[in-house]
Amino acid sequence: MSSSTLALLLILFGTLCSFFYLFRSRNRHKNVRKTPPGPFPLPIIGNLHMIGKLPHQALHHLAERYGPIMSVMLGHVPTIVVSSPEAAELFLKTHDAVFAGRPKLQTSEYLTYGPKGVVFSEYGPYWRTVRKWFSLHLVSASRVESFAPVRKQEVASLVESVRKAAEGGKTVDLSRQVGKVIEVIMSRVIFGRSMDDQIDFKPLIEEVMNIAGAFNLSDFVPFLAPLDLQGLARRVKRASKDLHEFFDKIIDQHEQQGTKHKEQKPYTDFVDVMVSLLDTPMNPKDKEQSSIIDRRNIKAIMVDMVAASFDTTTTAIEWTLSELVRHPRVMLGLQQELDRVVGRNRMVEESDLQKLTYLDMIIKESFRLHPVAPFLIPHESTEDITVDGYFIPNKSRIIVNTWSMGRDHKVWSDDAEEFLPERFEDNKIDFGGHDFRLIPFGAGRRGCPGMQLGLTTMRLIIAQLFHCFDWELPDGMLPNELDMTEKFGLSLPRANHLFAKPTYRLVG
Ligand code: HEM
Ligand SMILES: *[C@@H]1O[C@H](CO)[C@@H](O)[C@H](O)[C@H]1NC(C)=O
Ligand SMILES: *[C@@H]1O[C@H](CO)[C@@H](O)[C@H](O)[C@H]1NC(C)=O
Repeated sequence: MSSSTLALLLILFGTLCSFFYLFRSRNRHKNVRKTPPGPFPLPIIGNLHMIGKLPHQALHHLAERYGPIMSVMLGHVPTIVVSSPEAAELFLKTHDAVFAGRPKLQTSEYLTYGPKGVVFSEYGPYWRTVRKWFSLHLVSASRVESFAPVRKQEVASLVESVRKAAEGGKTVDLSRQVGKVIEVIMSRVIFGRSMDDQIDFKPLIEEVMNIAGAFNLSDFVPFLAPLDLQGLARRVKRASKDLHEFFDKIIDQHEQQGTKHKEQKPYTDFVDVMVSLLDTPMNPKDKEQSSIIDRRNIKAIMVDMVAASFDTTTTAIEWTLSELVRHPRVMLGLQQELDRVVGRNRMVEESDLQKLTYLDMIIKESFRLHPVAPFLIPHESTEDITVDGYFIPNKSRIIVNTWSMGRDHKVWSDDAEEFLPERFEDNKIDFGGHDFRLIPFGAGRRGCPGMQLGLTTMRLIIAQLFHCFDWELPDGMLPNELDMTEKFGLSLPRANHLFAKPTYRLVG
């Protein structure tokens, strides 16, 4: 059944029931505390019929009407949509501890053993321990640094292939090329191997990402679950079985290899680290040693990392490249910076990156207009609380609409729609969630622990592509003709691939 037929059926059904609902609610809702304003929900489906294919845009428009703290019903799930920096600060800083929960999503129960990873674990001692462990052992500054040789090698081979295209006067599918290089880098970092050797696990990973990003109707309208209208339940069972077999194989290989191959590989991948800590307590100070690292933890964390890093990093780079080819003035500015800092007789090194301040302004501006996780990852409240005069009951879902925040005219002035990196010139807005005007990685307790890894990869790839090449749109397309349509899913990528024509610009 197509999603539009489904939606239609639901609306019909909802309308039928609404009389019954109105009748009942008149008696029940007399002395309730003040909840945030929002559109009137139909029974059963709530406001789902208003959300459409691009929910971040639909909720942005609703928030313009109802305000920065708004209630909507997603099926039977009471949801608070947060759409301004001031409001986001209330939820992610002032009352961070209350809103640091995650909703229970069925998909993640299957994929991460209920859940044993970081991303979907409920707020509490287990999550705290595993997150600390994750940050300390897997994404610490020194660990991120240790993967520099992998990035260098893979980005060089990207440049090589683009250079061939440039010599042949060919157009490059930048979306595909970037997707590929991120996959290779991240799978070497995580599993110590690339996507194309031995087992072809790419289709499997893609299936997992699609399922994880799918909008599971049954999560919102539970009585539909047994019907499995979208076929998701079947898919998730099959994919999680395949995935766990595959991850078992990888762990086996790492265990067998032990230290034998250490000399051949210039770095230690995530699975090496995790395997070396198998059967040890996550928290050494924990006397009862209640959380011991086992295989399920390792596999759950692998799922987390794949889901959290592939799409996000690729999408973020893809949008930045799109804005750069669309804005020749900005591209030129970046290349002038690269000429000054790096010079045309060599490629960009990671040690150059911290000097590229205009590049960082460009990346911020791209995140402002194209946050790759427009709703962050949903939060859930863990107790009843009153925020800004509104009562928010325990177990409400919290959606922070960063897409909407990036377009707020009150914050970004009248040219909010325009791509203007210079707006970050004289302020201290950083990536890390200290200033709530820009929070592409979230903020507070649940903020992204992989930010440095993601940013370093982004900076290197973007800098290298614009240092080594000039880019123009194919077939004489004008900058303002480039299609910038979005596609909503696990992240918010371009709906259509970005194509551009490279010209090599280094000496030698
Ligand atoms: C440009 C790349 C990336 C972006 C834009 C990004 C963005 C985000 C966002 C918005 C969140 C949710 C924050 C919230 O719910 O408040 C998040 C969470 C998370 N990210 Fe990232 N991320 C990126 C790369 C990575 C990488 C490379 C890793 C690790 C390998 C990673 C690991 C995680 C984890 C484990 C969480 C869950 C944290 C928790 O629930 O406690 N991310 N990320
Ligand atoms: C969708 O949600 C329902 C109910 O929450 C659940 O039983 C089902 O397994 C979910 N499907 C997927 C693919 O997560
Ligand atoms: C909120 O709900 C959760 C789950 O139902 C429950 O465990 C918790 O005790 C509740 N918190 C408060 C403060 O009532």
